[in-house]
Amino acid sequence: MTKLAAAGAVAVLLLQAAPAPASAQAAPAGSATATATKATRAAPFEDTIAQRVLACSACHGAQGRATRDGYFPRIAGKPAGYLFEQLRNFRDGRRSYPPMAGLLAGLDDDYLREIAGHFAGLRLRYPPPQAPQGSPSMLARGRALALEGDPSRELPACAECHGRALTGAAPAIPGLLGLSRDYLNAQIGAWRDGLRHAAAPDCMAQVARRLRPEDVAALTGWLAAQPVPTLETPAASPGARLPMRCGSVDAGVAAVQTQGAATAAADAAQVARGAYLARAGDCMGCHTARGAARYAGGRGVATPFGTVYASNLTPDDETGLGRWSADDFWRALHDGRSRDGRALYPAFPYPQFTRVTREDSDALFAFLRSLPAVRQPNRPHALRFPFDRQIVLEAWRWLFFRPAAFVADRSRSPEWNRGAYLVTGLGHCAACHGARNALGAARDAARFDGEQMPEQGWYAPSLHDPRQAGLADWPLEDIVRLLRVGVTGRASVAGPMAEVVRHGTQHLDASDLRAIAVFLRELPVDPPATGATPAPSDRDAAWLASGARAYENHCANCHGERGEGVPGAYPALAGNRAVTMDPPINLVRIAAHGGFPPQTAGNPRPFGMPPFTQALDDADLAAILSYVRNAWGNRGSLLSSPDVSRYRGSAGQ
Ligand code: HEC
Ligand code: HEC
Ligand code: HEC
Ligand code: HEC
Ligand code: HEC
Repeated sequence: MTKLAAAGAVAVLLLQAAPAPASAQAAPAGSATATATKATRAAPFEDTIAQRVLACSACHGAQGRATRDGYFPRIAGKPAGYLFEQLRNFRDGRRSYPPMAGLLAGLDDDYLREIAGHFAGLRLRYPPPQAPQGSPSMLARGRALALEGDPSRELPACAECHGRALTGAAPAIPGLLGLSRDYLNAQIGAWRDGLRHAAAPDCMAQVARRLRPEDVAALTGWLAAQPVPTLETPAASPGARLPMRCGSVDAGVAAVQTQGAATAAADAAQVARGAYLARAGDCMGCHTARGAARYAGGRGVATPFGTVYASNLTPDDETGLGRWSADDFWRALHDGRSRDGRALYPAFPYPQFTRVTREDSDALFAFLRSLPAVRQPNRPHALRFPFDRQIVLEAWRWLFFRPAAFVADRSRSPEWNRGAYLVTGLGHCAACHGARNALGAARDAARFDGEQMPEQGWYAPSLHDPRQAGLADWPLEDIVRLLRVGVTGRASVAGPMAEVVRHGTQHLDASDLRAIAVFLRELPVDPPATGATPAPSDRDAAWLASGARAYENHCANCHGERGEGVPGAYPALAGNRAVTMDPPINLVRIAAHGGFPPQTAGNPRPFGMPPFTQALDDADLAAILSYVRNAWGNRGSLLSSPDVSRYRGSAGQ
């Protein structure tokens, strides 16, 4: 077989790619309209927590007071501990609603607690109850179940936990009044079907499974028809002892993991160094599944050929690296081979990690040995034939991979060389930003020409092109700030890059960040494009005017009448290359799904952008975005509805 034929047969576009977060799921029926986007056009900018969570109002209504017949639940006035648990549940995958999981993905517990406290503190009148549904006997049955339960079936009364008045019990049990029937049915159904979970033991799952379908209808028909006592607040604590144990109520649920035994021997300084390097390489990002034990693996990395699951890196003997030596570990990082000699998939970025020094490899290994051992078998990869074959992978490696070492360039400063080592090695920036050939291999290890990430629905822009993410004309301080804080006056990172900043670069020390900035600023710059984008023609004027009106309605409140933004809160859209860049993948994606910039020590309470995918259709978004690309001195090609539908992707993708 010739090299070329091998290549053809192999066709292993084992694209290195970012982890695939939440599996995309369809939004529940009835959530098709985001009601209150207009409500975001409110008072002038004020730096408050309410302002920071306007992204939530798009669905939950201004002040968290949802419409009574919609599927979006009211959140105002619910117990703070309960709201906090729910936010964590959505973020960590115990409760499934992808648009919210996407919004919350980058926010830590402290901020979620503050957001929960904000909504819990709102005291708003409830709307009148829904009309009773069902026959009088059915409603009587619902009332009896709610207030007395059914001892013959070991079914406790709802009131035993949810409070005598069914208005909840602080800090962790929500009220059952003021919720729509649709919402109540959906929640009980979700528990029965295993789609909603609370911390174990999950008492509500047991309650829900003991209910027959006719019980559910009776209960929800009756509950939704009860008025809420005027501005009733949750009882201070569950009055009597609960009839079942509820993990979500147990105080101090903090699951303290027991420390592994292997720590003692390790040299503390080396472990600390390894922990730092693990941040620089964002090992945790791929090796931790959503809401699961750190470094225990199981997170999928999506490639065009299927999903490769990251391995358990904790020192468990059976399922992790417990029996590995420092040599085994070095071979994985440097040669891309597992302990048993198996070739590893380059979804693990060893084509970059191969440049890591042996000393750094040993420190990383010492750090991983210090983690608590977690028993979690590796999940088998889900790759399509023939990409699941070792021989195919060996052929790819023969064509495209050689173990390499970082070679310093003596003509450059030590600072530049340090930056080059971090960017081309541990930082694995090229895994996303490097252009690839048809077989998924990097065209040139020293180039960052930009590449689409089709599985993730993002575009990693070129670091050489001033119209994309080239940094040649940025002051060093701004580059450092972008990598440390995630937001600058010029740009704000999003999507996979937000994860890189949050888990990785924000933790680097000042000298390493500066070294990276020096290296990035001195990358070769692409020549200017020939032929500028033409101005829109008169034929498009009416359509762009409709885009301008929609911008006015939906966006100007935050981004300003002239796209000037609000410094420190909302990015300017005028003169912003994230707006005018081609391909416009990230622009469409951000407008459709919103998001928060990464939460970092330098930006601990970020402002959010609401998703518009439900409020605006493809044609509306195309008009708004085409307008924004050509207003206030911006110049970019016009977008069509098919462009928008191609790039919008799904929430939580
Ligand atoms: C795209 C619409 C949408 C956006 C934006 C949104 N939510 Fe939600 N939210 C929902 C829906 C729908 C549910 C119910 C989901 C389910 O359980 O199936 C929900 C549920 C919740 C719950 C659980 C309520 C309960 O009683 O159990 C909380 C708390 C919550 N959202 C808070 C927030 C916060 C805080 C934000 C902003 C960071 C936000 N949501 C943004 C649609 C949205
Ligand atoms: C043993 C205690 C217990 C009993 C009995 C109980 N619940 Fe719950 N319920 C809870 C807890 C705890 C939660 C909060 C779960 C969480 O954190 O997700 C909850 C949550 C709920 C929710 C979600 C509310 C929302 O805003 O999303 C509904 C609906 C609900 N219960 C209905 C019922 C009904 C109906 C009954 C009676 C048939 C009942 N529960 C009986 C403990 C109980
Ligand atoms: C972009 C995602 C990604 C990042 C970042 C990443 N890994 Fe991995 N890693 C993977 C995947 C996927 C595998 C599984 C590859 C396979 O089985 O072929 C893996 C496998 C490994 C293995 C081999 C384990 C075994 O059982 O054979 C080691 C060791 C490893 N990674 C260490 C690290 C270290 C150390 C870092 C940080 C410096 C890191 N990884 C960062 C995705 C990643
Ligand atoms: C997991 C994939 C991934 C990795 C790894 C990655 N990036 Fe990015 N990067 C992206 C994507 C996608 C974008 C576009 C979204 C955005 O603008 O934030 C981006 C944007 C950027 C931008 C432009 C930010 C802006 O908003 O103008 C810079 C600069 C950048 N990356 C530098 C780096 C550097 C340096 C590294 C290595 C330390 C790196 N990236 C690693 C995916 C990645
Ligand atoms: C509630 C305030 C709010 C509204 C309303 C809003 N945005 Fe945003 N927008 C933000 C925030 C906050 C960010 C930063 C988010 C991030 O970095 O993830 C942002 C980011 C963006 C970005 C990316 C800018 C960059 O530098 O990366 C674009 C493009 C954008 N918004 C367009 C729009 C459009 C178009 C609309 C109307 C359809 C809109 N926004 C409505 C708050 C808002």
